[in-house]
Amino acid sequence: MVIAVDGPAASGKGTIAKALASHYGLPHLDTGALYRAVALSIIRAGDDPADAEGAARHARMFGDDLLHDPDIRSRRTGAVASVVSAHGRVRDTLLARQRAFAAQPGGAVLDGRDIGTVIAPDAAAKLFVTAGIDERARRRTAELAARGHDAELEAVKTDLIARDERDRDRDVAPLRPAPGATILDTTALGIEDAVAAAIEAVEAARGEAVRPGT
Ligand code: CDP
Ligand code: CDP
Repeated sequence: MVIAVDGPAASGKGTIAKALASHYGLPHLDTGALYRAVALSIIRAGDDPADAEGAARHARMFGDDLLHDPDIRSRRTGAVASVVSAHGRVRDTLLARQRAFAAQPGGAVLDGRDIGTVIAPDAAAKLFVTAGIDERARRRTAELAARGHDAELEAVKTDLIARDERDRDRDVAPLRPAPGATILDTTALGIEDAVAAAIEAVEAARGEAVRPGT
């Protein structure tokens, strides 16, 4: 069973994807970490994120240690990630790794922006997690501060708005709900209730899958 979890920045999709993975005993891939690792590789090399071919080279070459580097979570890395992720060549380079993860026997949970639309369009369940911008900014500010990154609410909010716009407006794999995705608005939900709603949505999607045509 493959579960696709997409949504805008700081909507809670990673938290939900991890909880679903643990609930169903499936491996989980945070695909945003791949784009953040490419961004950090570019930042550390002092290269230009607008250069598509250079960014694709970083996407081919970055070391897996970057996936666990705390600096991938910074505001700057997030902003650069949304610039490099608009390059088709970067997305193509990261595609095989994500598809292979989704194709594991037994299934997987992946979260990102294009899991239900591009990476795993045949996923058994597709969720599109959203939350209001003020709540998302509040959550991300608290998370950044807890990790020791600089975090000022208005600046974080401005970043999230800019990143969402870039992710929605790009030509390749723009952020949007996949056909048939369940929209899960978590603005007023705590983590426990959001996870319960997600499990309910996955169960409903699986139920539909075993009753074709209903
Ligand atoms: O955690 P957050 O929602 O803030 O971002 P993320 O999932 O770590 O993703 C960082 C950036 O990578 C996003 O703003 C997107 O530009 C890009 N991304 C993407 O294009 N496609 C994905 N499947 C995942 C992330
Ligand atoms: O993966 P994404 O960027 O969409 O968001 P996340 O990393 O799952 O969640 C961002 C922050 O919001 C985390 O610190 C979560 O603990 C918190 N969160 C929350 O307060 N309430 C929720 N319903 C979901 C997440």
